Amino acid sequence: MSATSQGTDSHRGIRDSWTGQYGFLMAAIGSAVGLGNIWRFPGVAYSNGGGAFILPYLIALLFAGIPILMLDYALGHKYRGSAPLTFRRLNEKFEFLGWWQVLVSFIILVYYAVIIAWAAMYAIYSVNMAWGESPLDFFVGDFLQASGELISFTPVWHILIPLVFIWIFVLVVLGRGVSRGVEAANKVFLPLLVLLFLILVIRALFLPGAIDGLNEFFTPEWDALFDGTVWLAAMSQIFFSMSIAFGIMLTYASYLPKKTNLTGTGLVAGFANSSFEILAGIGVFATLGFMAHQQSVTVDELEGLTGPILSFVTFPKIISMMPGGALFGVIFFTSLTLAGITSLLSLLQVVSSGFQDKFGLNPRRAAVTVGSVSAVVSVVLFSTTTGLNTLDIVDSFINNLGVVSSAIVMTLLAYFAVPKIRALRNHLNMSSPIQVPRAWDYIVGLIVPAVLAIMMFQAIVDYLTEGYGDWAPGSANILIFGWGTIAIAAIGALIFTFLPWKPNVSQEKIIRYKGEED
Ligand code: ALA
Repeated sequence: MSATSQGTDSHRGIRDSWTGQYGFLMAAIGSAVGLGNIWRFPGVAYSNGGGAFILPYLIALLFAGIPILMLDYALGHKYRGSAPLTFRRLNEKFEFLGWWQVLVSFIILVYYAVIIAWAAMYAIYSVNMAWGESPLDFFVGDFLQASGELISFTPVWHILIPLVFIWIFVLVVLGRGVSRGVEAANKVFLPLLVLLFLILVIRALFLPGAIDGLNEFFTPEWDALFDGTVWLAAMSQIFFSMSIAFGIMLTYASYLPKKTNLTGTGLVAGFANSSFEILAGIGVFATLGFMAHQQSVTVDELEGLTGPILSFVTFPKIISMMPGGALFGVIFFTSLTLAGITSLLSLLQVVSSGFQDKFGLNPRRAAVTVGSVSAVVSVVLFSTTTGLNTLDIVDSFINNLGVVSSAIVMTLLAYFAVPKIRALRNHLNMSSPIQVPRAWDYIVGLIVPAVLAIMMFQAIVDYLTEGYGDWAPGSANILIFGWGTIAIAAIGALIFTFLPWKPNVSQEKIIRYKGEED
């Protein structure tokens, strides 16, 4: 029996669901607000023109982020399934896209968990500023014990142990199901995160020199607007940060009750995420202003403002300089840990729900199965002395190629292949007082995939001609951890697509409002 007919024949209600719109919003914002907001956004903004980045960022939010978020919501809510089941219900041939999203989420989550483990350890290190005089040497040497080898299985115990604790925690939450586990955790963690972060930002604003940092963040370099890479950076930041186009929001929306204000909820979630992101930018830049002030340099003369170095080297440096730095450090790294955990839960839910739908597992069994495999992969690959290099390349390839390709295929599928874009807009509009205009069809179905295709083409050319970071295009690191990651995602997605659906698994009915076209 096909998944489609199972879906329409069976009874509703076997699937867990959010307790209501508020619970869903907490989980959706908790998923969106993550490491991407706190450590990625300020660095990306800084290296792409500072204040000039805000404009492409807002345009990407309005014209790509929110429209694709709505597409994810419409698909998940109407078709009531994990990504594989949803795409299969659209057309049996497209189940692969669902598994591709599952595999992309899986690959992201195995390294994402490791960064949370780093942050948790740094929250502890902040108490006595264990990084001492040289935070860079401490991070790369003492902490990561980074080796130049291609791959090593030598464990770094002070990363491995917190990582194991994080895995145990998230799997217990996941095993409790959507409402009793994921939603309940978000209802505690998200308000706590917002509170801690507000304290942090307010403190940062009162530091001497904070205003210089803010000027750097908000003063536009207009030339940057004519640089294509700035627009590409804005687009990928929006996708990662909003948790869209790789299964998360689609999966979360599938647990929403039939009566839900989809567009209103989407707008709240989207703008809440970006507000938090800009708040993080303000906090981080105010703090950098303080650092520049202490060193009697300008903010643009500072170094180490991107990637892991910003959070794990530059911030510790600042914490050491600051009056009351220890408390500031504990709050900063605790915020990073909390933000990361709620996003990690959402990444895991994508994988878990795919397994529940296809293989008939209950949430607890899915959590154990998915979780043990993920935990082992993340421990073996990333808590070792080669973890940093591996992580950096995997992150770049899976975001620039994995997430973006998923968005392109998903939007083209909805517009050309099935085509369901009008019906999906109709579904959104029948559920909500705020109506999605017809222009959405063209933005989502034509403009977004065209822009993304250019962006992905450029990324492929860059990887092939320049490699990535310090690695040459043909180096073993790029071949194994870059292209190899993409190959593993593709092979994994193919295998799961061709495995048979467990028969007689009861799946929830598709939602069709009265008078709604299919
Ligand atoms: N949306 C999550 C983040 O920003 C994945 O980190």
